[in-house]
Amino acid sequence: MKSQTPSLKTGPKTYRVKSFGCQMNVYDGERMGELLDEKGLSPAPDGEDADLVVLNTCHIREKAAEKIYSDIGRLTKGKTQKKAPMIAVAGCVAQAEGEEIMSRAPAVSMVVGPQAYHRLPDMLDKAVRGERATDTDMPAIAKFGALPQRKRRSPTAFLTVQEGCDKFCTYCVVPYTRGAEISRPFNDLIGEARKLIEAGAREITLLGQNVNAWSGEDTKGHKVGLAGLIRALAKLDGVERIRYTTSHPNDMEDDLIAAHGEVEKLMPYLHLPVQSGNDRVLKAMNRAHTAESYLKLLERFREARPDIALSGDFIVGFPGETEAEFEDTLSLVDEVRYSQAFSFKYSPRPGTPAATMDNQLPRDVMDDRLQRLQARLNRDQMAFNKAIEGKSCSVLVERKGKLASQWLGKSPWLTSVWFEGDAQIGDLVEVKLVEAGPNSVRGVI
Ligand code: SAH
Ligand code: SF4
Ligand code: F3S
Repeated sequence: MKSQTPSLKTGPKTYRVKSFGCQMNVYDGERMGELLDEKGLSPAPDGEDADLVVLNTCHIREKAAEKIYSDIGRLTKGKTQKKAPMIAVAGCVAQAEGEEIMSRAPAVSMVVGPQAYHRLPDMLDKAVRGERATDTDMPAIAKFGALPQRKRRSPTAFLTVQEGCDKFCTYCVVPYTRGAEISRPFNDLIGEARKLIEAGAREITLLGQNVNAWSGEDTKGHKVGLAGLIRALAKLDGVERIRYTTSHPNDMEDDLIAAHGEVEKLMPYLHLPVQSGNDRVLKAMNRAHTAESYLKLLERFREARPDIALSGDFIVGFPGETEAEFEDTLSLVDEVRYSQAFSFKYSPRPGTPAATMDNQLPRDVMDDRLQRLQARLNRDQMAFNKAIEGKSCSVLVERKGKLASQWLGKSPWLTSVWFEGDAQIGDLVEVKLVEAGPNSVRGVI
């Protein structure tokens, strides 16, 4: 079912894909790159202008969306139509705003949503003929069957296993930009993982907006959840590390918790967003879990894997959040002691229920709360890094550091580790962690 599109005789020769969003957005960016490779284009060398620029956008908070218009301005500023690059807008802003982008930005030739980008090569043919095109269809799973084989060479790889979201948290655009929850078939995923391993991947991160909602049938026709998929992937030769993100507390299954104690290749790290530590706010967010049920879940992960590093997401300043309710979030943080976490000021997203709720909070209140929350999260991140000081662990080398003979990689707990010595990208080296910093830890071989 692979689409073999004829190469372009005229039109752009080089491309650059700029991804602005979550890991799934980065994955989509890589796959768009592979489609363009197949079409005969090649990635523009670093520092050189590309003939085609794909802006792979994110709609989760307002800055992310506004950024694309300034980027388009920068790409076309002072350039004649002949000299300016061809521009495609992809990703979640493309899905949400579609035609509006076309009318607001005449320099854009293509607008393509996250479920339709397999049709990018055809759109490019049209664009070369001077026809602008928008495609924001959401044909459930058609995309994956129409994409070329994986060939990206890297020791770490993303693999989208699940897409979309049915949770409809009241603040969030994802259910609208990504559509309903779907799971990719088991065999397709094993096949794609094999290709990634052949291309050099030693760590595979399974992705989904609600990755632990993944379900499928294994080769024997047995119904399996994410843990079953992880157990099958762990049997593949060549893969050394497995991670997954992002999970939702409501979809957590016993078997996934158990897998953390049983599957050696499954890394001791869990990203489980909670958003708030207050039950009234959680209810208004439509999260359908409580602070306590969330804490109980984490406790079970810690029982299965005592050294598991915990991470989460937080929103401060949700409409109507009182000071006391915000302080419940601080208390939850004190209780969990995250190894790292992401925190955001609430951003009203057009079309979501929370955007029209009463009692939207002023910016200075949100700024203040975010600062206080981040101070605690930073405290805990430093404490985590200090706590692993003195331990030995494996580090997967991802890239060179700034200085010669300096290497950067990740610990099993996803901390950034740097060390000096003989190594290569893709090596799994055993290092002793000797000096903790706020954002990374120094190791020695
Ligand atoms: N599916 C995942 C992540 C979704 S988006 C989950 O449910 O956890 C990543 C993070 O962005 C969310 O966890 C949330 O913390 C944040 N976010 C989403 N919508 C937001 C909004 N309108 N304003 C501020 N932060 C938001
Ligand atoms: Fe958004 Fe909630 Fe779905 Fe996560 S679970 S993607 S926050 S609607
Ligand atoms: Fe952004 Fe879309 Fe991901 S809105 S966070 S790119 S799913």
